[in-house]
Amino acid sequence: MAKIRSFSYVLCHLVLVLVNVYIFRKMYYYDNEKLSWSQTAAQEAEKIASISCSGHGRAYIDGYVNVDGNPICECYSCYGGIDCSLFSSNCSVNVESGDPLFLEPFWMQNAASSAVVVAGWHRMSYVFPNNQFFISKELEKNIRKIHAIAKNAITHGKYIIFGTGSTQLLHAAVHALSMDNNYSTVVANKIPYYSLYKLQTEYFQTRHYEFGGDSSVLKNNSDFAGNVIEFVTSPNNPDGKLESPVLNGPNVKHIYDHAYYWSHYTAIPAPADEDLMIFSMSKLTGHAGSRFGWAIVKDVNVYTRMMEFISLAEMGTSKEVQLRALTLLKAVAQGDGKQLFNFAQHVLTYRWEKLSHIFSLTKRFNLQTIPTQYCTFFERTRKPSPAYAWVKCKRKEDKNCQEVFRVAKIIVRSSRKFYAGDRYVRFSLLTGQHDFDMLIHRLKELVSQEYEASAQAMSSF
Ligand SMILES: Cc1ncc(COP(=O)(O)O)c(C=O)c1O
Repeated sequence: MAKIRSFSYVLCHLVLVLVNVYIFRKMYYYDNEKLSWSQTAAQEAEKIASISCSGHGRAYIDGYVNVDGNPICECYSCYGGIDCSLFSSNCSVNVESGDPLFLEPFWMQNAASSAVVVAGWHRMSYVFPNNQFFISKELEKNIRKIHAIAKNAITHGKYIIFGTGSTQLLHAAVHALSMDNNYSTVVANKIPYYSLYKLQTEYFQTRHYEFGGDSSVLKNNSDFAGNVIEFVTSPNNPDGKLESPVLNGPNVKHIYDHAYYWSHYTAIPAPADEDLMIFSMSKLTGHAGSRFGWAIVKDVNVYTRMMEFISLAEMGTSKEVQLRALTLLKAVAQGDGKQLFNFAQHVLTYRWEKLSHIFSLTKRFNLQTIPTQYCTFFERTRKPSPAYAWVKCKRKEDKNCQEVFRVAKIIVRSSRKFYAGDRYVRFSLLTGQHDFDMLIHRLKELVSQEYEASAQAMSSF
């Protein structure tokens, strides 16, 4: 009898264990087991992502492949060899471009929530259904949500237009704002400004608009009474200043380029509420390669003309890009929605402090000053964290500032590219960590030369 009882006791336990194993498998594994067509692609993506390139490069699924069909590492600057393990100590560090690679580690930490699976038959149509045409309403909803989280723009009662990067929208906006006028409209900016405004306006110039140069000069030209479109870049590229229009009046329209109006780069004193504002995913999430931006527009006529421009130029923005943007924005909004903003601000504040310290040790160069300011996003006064350092060469003989840094093995963008002479240069602080570390190394070498020179001068007395 006792034997039977203990047998049924063991049997009951066994059944219970089996039921638990079944439930556990169903909860955690069953969905994976169900994967069919996406499994091979997912495995390949993870396999390539796991190639380490010695920690000095990356392998991509669409990169070059070797003779065996395996992807080849794309090495960071100053590294080479098949696995990026060879360091060239003599090479120059390149901080010229505004590639926002500093956000890459964030996305590696959030790999699962930011990954996108695209089926072979995903949205093959030119349009979204139900008269949505080129715009994913779900993405539009999420853009409005991100602005509400970031407290950087008011979207209520305004239209949203998507573009192939904000680059396309900047031009679409010039086109839309200039169509009202019978006479040619002049496009202007305050120096120093992002060169694309001038380059695009001149390249695509029509009978409706032409480039007019510096808005400060126009302001002082009392004879000028024509129509003007002024770009207001806030924060400004290159110097990080929060800007207001130089020109005002009934003949002046403004395009606010808010590519950097995120708490990554600046304090947010208040949500922007202008009639025509342009934002870029490149500087929000760091995905410059995806080429996605959006405009927030108040006036229905301006909206219609911009949409017309986008339709004629591109027939809308790629559906794959919209899907990726949606996935990324959802990942940004998850939890308390602050993770990305905290990460970006933390990295850039640290970089700014490092750079400020080095420039405080030299009399040869001057770094721009940015005030600490109250930020409504962080709900506190916060330190500067600009996207770029704007540096002046002070010595009389250092007329070509870019050249001074080139000799010191630092590749920077000259102020000439911002129509501001040759005395200044722009360093990007948006690079990957590796390039930033190299920059600090080279700057330390350059500044220490100054000390050595003055020590030698002292010892010759
Ligand atoms: C001020 C400013 N506006 C627009 C852009 C272009 O951004 P996108 O990558 O969205 O075309 C940049 C790029 O660096 C920029 O600095």
